[in-house]
Amino acid sequence: MCGIIGFFSDSLSKEKIIDSLKRLEYRGYDSAGLAIIEDKKIKRYRCKGEIKELEKKLKNIQIKANICIAHTRWATHGKPSEENAHPHTDCTGKISIVHNGIIENYLELREKLKKKGHVFKSDTDTEIFAHLIEDKLNKNLINAVESAVKEIKGNYAFAIISSLEPDKIIAVKKGAPVVIGIGFDEYFVSSDIPAFLKYTNKAIFLQDNDICVISKNGIEIKNNDKEVKRLVQNIKWDSEQAEKKGFSHFMIKEIFEQPEVFEDTILGRFNEEKGEIHIEGLDTEKLKRIKNIRLIACGTSYHAALAAKYLIEKYAGISAIAEIASEARYSEPVIEKNTLLITISQSGETADTIAAFNNIKKKVDFTIAIVNVVGSTLSRLADYVIYTHAGPEIGVASTKTFTSQMAVLYLLTFQIARIKKKMTTDLIKKYLKNLRKMPEFIIEILKSKDEIKKIADKYYEQKDFLYYGRNVNYPIALEGALKLKEISYIHAEGYPAGEIKHGPIALIDDKVPNIFVAPESRLYGKIINNIEEIKARGGKVIVITNNKNKKISKYVDDVIYIPDVDEDFYPLLAVIPMQLLAYFIGVKRGINVDKPRNLAKSVTVE
Ligand code: M6R
Repeated sequence: MCGIIGFFSDSLSKEKIIDSLKRLEYRGYDSAGLAIIEDKKIKRYRCKGEIKELEKKLKNIQIKANICIAHTRWATHGKPSEENAHPHTDCTGKISIVHNGIIENYLELREKLKKKGHVFKSDTDTEIFAHLIEDKLNKNLINAVESAVKEIKGNYAFAIISSLEPDKIIAVKKGAPVVIGIGFDEYFVSSDIPAFLKYTNKAIFLQDNDICVISKNGIEIKNNDKEVKRLVQNIKWDSEQAEKKGFSHFMIKEIFEQPEVFEDTILGRFNEEKGEIHIEGLDTEKLKRIKNIRLIACGTSYHAALAAKYLIEKYAGISAIAEIASEARYSEPVIEKNTLLITISQSGETADTIAAFNNIKKKVDFTIAIVNVVGSTLSRLADYVIYTHAGPEIGVASTKTFTSQMAVLYLLTFQIARIKKKMTTDLIKKYLKNLRKMPEFIIEILKSKDEIKKIADKYYEQKDFLYYGRNVNYPIALEGALKLKEISYIHAEGYPAGEIKHGPIALIDDKVPNIFVAPESRLYGKIINNIEEIKARGGKVIVITNNKNKKISKYVDDVIYIPDVDEDFYPLLAVIPMQLLAYFIGVKRGINVDKPRNLAKSVTVE
């Protein structure tokens, strides 16, 4: 996620700007930059890569400004490069902006502005906003910002300066966070508190649709053209706590970010009223020809691939195979004509996935990479890339990136089904409405964290756990087991529930917890039979089921409830309690859940 820091300060210095930027590093970034107003002119310094590159650029520069906007960029539109680094400017170079978020309708606006003679120097969605302000400018900068904001769609936070009115910073917020720091005789505009916590612990959190002007007159905030007052809060966190937003670990912070991340992933990608899906850049003509799909990935990303296999076959009516990339890299697959290869990877740098991709790529019709990191190797190798927009994931265990991958895979499945006329428009509309509601359902599950913690406290000393699911919920059993083993060091296995009698049943005793993903869906009766098999042998059973299924609590040891949804959306919800359970067990066992032993976030070696 990009990081914004703006200063309105008489004690501004190069060191101060760099220090604040470094405090935003935890958000992840691939380039950095800043703009200041000096002698009524905007000066910009930008670089690709780390902040130390920016420091090198500034080595012989004296900063004599009292206004600055600076930025760490996590690429979403356009690869990491100096041209795409923020701040961006308009044609005249008199307006400069930094941005966090996504402007959903940027292509349409870009075309409009191009026709009016605007020339763009980057591939970013951000740059259009500087041009849009320029386009609206008629003496008053604030009015121009206000009317430019009315034309953009999406989630965004901006900090804006202009040499035309060199004595102010304007901040705009919708969706993405903006916090204003109030120092003794200075102000800060930031994406997050750590960037200014060294100087003040007084902060105002802007609300959606706020436009805030910082000038010698202090802070003035308007919301929908009306002046508003916002509460000044005293921040009690130290800087490490602030990076984690007060959470104890990045992992739990990232678990709690999932509703927001899910919204970011689906943002602007469908219209549920019309039943239309727009995945940017994806060639629908090519999708029409597809008769088979191969999905390759590792670890958690493989579990998303496996869930997609069930969805694609059911809804798009075409054959789909999901393969573990470390196997697929050495396989000699027989690939049918008109096959689409989909690779899924958070980092886009996993060595096994890249090798498997290269092994199969030449035999297929075309390729899609679903990745989180913009500009990563897989995003460059594939014919098409669909970004998950989950923001950086710091915890080694994948959590929010899994839900974002699933969001993309649902959309892609429905898109293929639509093109192939395998789903009616009414069904697509209904399912898109379901997707729109997922963030609120995830919030509901997150509220039950204390009950899940109690279950963790009850079982955390066990040595083995078994996880089961059927059909599209089977990959969630695998994911639950993977989460538990990587951050608690407890042995755990995931199985298709029907496999119990083919081996795992020998492990059942009165200690091993058996966790079932068992919502009341098509195969519920079968899962109940499997639960009976375990109960009959004295096993402990924990069930994840839907809210309405209260009767099950009489038959099993523990129940975790998730909202009632159409059956194929349960995987998306069932994974959340799995993540929480693993997290609480890991913490209770005293493990560093953000950095478990022997693991790396990105596995770039074989
Ligand atoms: O970056 P990738 O999605 O390609 O990484 C693949 C796996 O290494 C990864 O999903 C790993 O299994 C997770 N960290 C597990 O939580």
